[in-house]
Amino acid sequence: MIKITSFILVVLLSIGHLFAKEGMWIPILLEKYNLAEMQKMGFKLTAQDIYDVNNASMKDAVVIFGGGCTGELISDEGLLITNYHCGYYNIQSHSSVENDYLTEGFWAMNRDEELTNKGLSVSFLEYMKDVSTEVFEGTEGLSEDEKQKKIKENIANIKKDADVDGKLRTSVKPLFYGNQYFLYVYKIYTDIRLVGAPPSAIGKFGGDTDNWMWPRHTGDFSLFRIYADKNNEPAKYSPDNVPYKPKKFFPISMKGVQPGDFTMVFGYPGRTMQYWPTQAVDITMDQRDPDRIKIRDKKLEIIGADMNADPKVRIQYSAKHAGISNSWKKWQGEIKGLNRLNAIDKKIAYEADFKEWAIKNETWDSKYKKVFNEFETNYNIYKKYVRANDYYSEIVFRGVELFRLAAMTDAIINNLENRQTEKVIAGRKSMVKYLPRFLKNFNQPTDEKLFAELLPMLLSDVDKEFLPAYYVEMINKTGSDKLVEKVYRKSILTDTDKLKKLLESGSDKQILKLRKDPIVALYNSFKLKNEMDISPELKAATTNITADMKIYMAGIMEMKKGQALYPDANFTLRVSYGKVEGFNPKDGVSYKHYTTLSGIMEKDNPAIYDYDVPDRLKELYNTKDYGKYTVEGEVPVCFTASNHTTGGNSGSPVVNGNGELIGVNFDRCWEGTMSDIMFDPDRCRNIAIDIRYALFIIDKFAGAGYLLEEMEIVE
Ligand code: ARG
Ligand code: ASP
Repeated sequence: MIKITSFILVVLLSIGHLFAKEGMWIPILLEKYNLAEMQKMGFKLTAQDIYDVNNASMKDAVVIFGGGCTGELISDEGLLITNYHCGYYNIQSHSSVENDYLTEGFWAMNRDEELTNKGLSVSFLEYMKDVSTEVFEGTEGLSEDEKQKKIKENIANIKKDADVDGKLRTSVKPLFYGNQYFLYVYKIYTDIRLVGAPPSAIGKFGGDTDNWMWPRHTGDFSLFRIYADKNNEPAKYSPDNVPYKPKKFFPISMKGVQPGDFTMVFGYPGRTMQYWPTQAVDITMDQRDPDRIKIRDKKLEIIGADMNADPKVRIQYSAKHAGISNSWKKWQGEIKGLNRLNAIDKKIAYEADFKEWAIKNETWDSKYKKVFNEFETNYNIYKKYVRANDYYSEIVFRGVELFRLAAMTDAIINNLENRQTEKVIAGRKSMVKYLPRFLKNFNQPTDEKLFAELLPMLLSDVDKEFLPAYYVEMINKTGSDKLVEKVYRKSILTDTDKLKKLLESGSDKQILKLRKDPIVALYNSFKLKNEMDISPELKAATTNITADMKIYMAGIMEMKKGQALYPDANFTLRVSYGKVEGFNPKDGVSYKHYTTLSGIMEKDNPAIYDYDVPDRLKELYNTKDYGKYTVEGEVPVCFTASNHTTGGNSGSPVVNGNGELIGVNFDRCWEGTMSDIMFDPDRCRNIAIDIRYALFIIDKFAGAGYLLEEMEIVE
């Protein structure tokens, strides 16, 4: 009796979990795997309303925004909403101490005032298609190397066929670790103009302190407009371009959110690792996250102090600081969450189940035993080399910024030495062009401090066999305290006028002399060491792991045959569904599903940049000038729901059961940041800005209510 009861309980629990929220699903397979469940949870539309190739569907209103975010159309005149933090780089680029849009906000009061953004694009998905059969064609019986070659060849052909006119962007991506392949075809628009952004005291309210946290009060949205040529096709910026007419845009719901309401997030999740084996999770928790947190502690301390001391540096380094801090904080939450979930034990148990299944199927000895043995060997190698790789990456390749100029110089010299004249000319030109952009956001004293503090970390933390002799000798001879003098005072790269002249009109001989420039020489020694002694071993281990992952994943798919499985995220369009709900982050604490303007006032602190509520917002609060944007006398600000999301989902539409926009996704809660590796339905919540708060800010705060006229607002 007891046995039966607990059995039923287990079944119910697992159905409950499966029922809810884990998963980032493929839009063209919803009908098959998810629709019934979605409808049961409150979705009122069809799978074709979400994705349809022949008719306008939601997918036509969702875009890749820039290189790593999602955005959605909210009017038939090309108006697009995404996160503030997704548009941040562009907003910052238009800002200076005189025109400080970060502090003041920016609102185009008519179309002529919209600002163009160099390098920004949005990508519309034309269609996606399972091309596994075509990709694997002719690969049977081939050796692994030949097979990979054939797959590459097939992919190239598929891409060519999908874009005969050369006007689209095509990509063929592996799903389920290469057990399936999908083709994605995109149309890309490049005339994207900034329409509106709140001050960062709203768009980034709470800053890095509140980042990844609930309760949250960030008005994380910005508005852009897509422009097209007269035929509605992509075109370079031109004053003659006209607002893009989308096939579909989202109506906006004023009805708000109640706990239990169906929610769907439709966007571009970047990367998840749900199927990782134990070793990979262990290395992440135990080594990679802590290593990178430690290095970034230093970076943030140095940059943060300089930002606080000088408003110019604050603007220069704000986007960089946010970027460094973002992963730094997530990794900390990830370690905590994985520990709390006993992730390693769970992985071990999962693999034990898998083994049992394989033994029963008589495939363990012939197939999977080897895979698991090889995981052990290869991850041991990986672990050793990835530490060096992480340190190089954090300090040399993406840390001290003068190394970036050194890398460009180094490449020019290499091309000169190899007599690649054209490349040399192009390299010199593009470096001259890059310099002002680099300098706009560069404060040498800050970079010197980074150099002084970070370079010695390599010596103390990285195995000697991975350090170049040049660097070890230099730091031992000079002493780390004098290193800055030796490098920054002597390098020509810190004298950018001279550098520019040299690049523009210096002789080859003069350029070749830069080989001896201290920062160029130092960079070159790291680069060579990495190329010789780190990168090849790391690549080899990773290649082996990838090949084994494919076999392991195929096994999981077979074991779970008939059940809905979702592939790990790979920055392709996915659907996550769940419901509006709060959660209990720890014993004795329960979180509501929404926050309000009153909470912003509670956090107000003029002494702290991130909590300095703008006067205009205070005024609206004090006079209760809320317009129609209230529930029970309060202005709603953010809400949480149980959709499985990750980086890249920022800016994604959060829609209700009728397909109307209720929010814009921008973050996850601290207690659930391990969801990339292991999802916990009890504690993993995504965070969205309530669309009514965005409208309130546009209308009441900014006085840009004219923008609402082009939207379809469902009262
Ligand atoms: N955590 C969110 C995401 O991963 C928002 C990051 C931007 N905000 C910030 N304060 N750094 O992108
Ligand atoms: N903030 C993330 C993004 O920018 C979303 C997340 O990681 O939940 O995509």
